[in-house]
Amino acid sequence: MATIAVYSVKGGVGKTTMAANLAWFSATVSCRRTLLWDLDAAGGAGFLYGLDPDKRAKAGSLFDRDATAADLIQHTAYDRLDLLPADESLRELDTVLARMGKKKRLAKLAADLSRKYERIILDCPPVLNEISAQVVRAADCIIVPLPPSPLSSRAFELVTKEIKRHAKVHPPILPVLSMLDMRRNLHREARATNPNWPAIPQASAVEQCAVLQRPVGDFAPSSPAARAFGQLWTAIERKLTQKG
Ligand SMILES: Nc1ncnc2c1ncn2[C@@H]1O[C@H](COP(=O)(O)OP(=O)(O)OP(=O)(O)O)[C@@H](O)[C@H]1O
Ligand SMILES: [Mg+2]
Repeated sequence: MATIAVYSVKGGVGKTTMAANLAWFSATVSCRRTLLWDLDAAGGAGFLYGLDPDKRAKAGSLFDRDATAADLIQHTAYDRLDLLPADESLRELDTVLARMGKKKRLAKLAADLSRKYERIILDCPPVLNEISAQVVRAADCIIVPLPPSPLSSRAFELVTKEIKRHAKVHPPILPVLSMLDMRRNLHREARATNPNWPAIPQASAVEQCAVLQRPVGDFAPSSPAARAFGQLWTAIERKLTQKG
């Protein structure tokens, strides 16, 4: 079992899109029982799978034991792929976790869920608080999407520094160039500076995920974007194996 967090302090860098697409590869190509866990009150991961947010807004109560994961988990249209959705109640999550004082609450919940799921993929909010601290403690691998720019390496160092502040021993951190457009000079330069980082192309097929509410591997399996997500997933599986 492994927990993979898609995390950055920055907003709008492609975290939710990446988490949702990687979850599909985990469930469908790697045939892993997979849980996509949306920790962001905005609820984008569920939207990308065409699932409505729960109006009872109970996602937060999982943490203080008023609800169980079984009450909340929804099946997606895909075999082996379930969603633990977000809702408005997660806006209070930072405060709830800080008040509880249990530093490993998220890790404990993930460990419980690992009886049922081989891969748990966390879609994280762009925050630097108790939620991100708990994500670092719960994750076996942290994926950091980075917009391509001359500052990509620096941005990655900053995220790594923050992760290290949370935990002396931290899981492997994998930088990924997200939304790479090789027609743009600065993007080509960012690619040349970091040739070994996995990259996801800027693609209309990826934008279509939000329109069709399906992962790109499902509706455009031979597109460059789907292939890139597939290669990224393979790289993550490899990292997890090395770790184990
Ligand atoms: N590879 C890509 N190609 C084209 N558009 C993309 C790509 N990845 C993400 N996008 C688009 O960029 C926007 C932001 O993506 P997303 O919501 O995944 O980012 P995020 O980091 O989760 O944002 P937030 O911090 O607000 O949660 C969305 O409109 C999404 O469709
Ligand atoms: Mg998001």
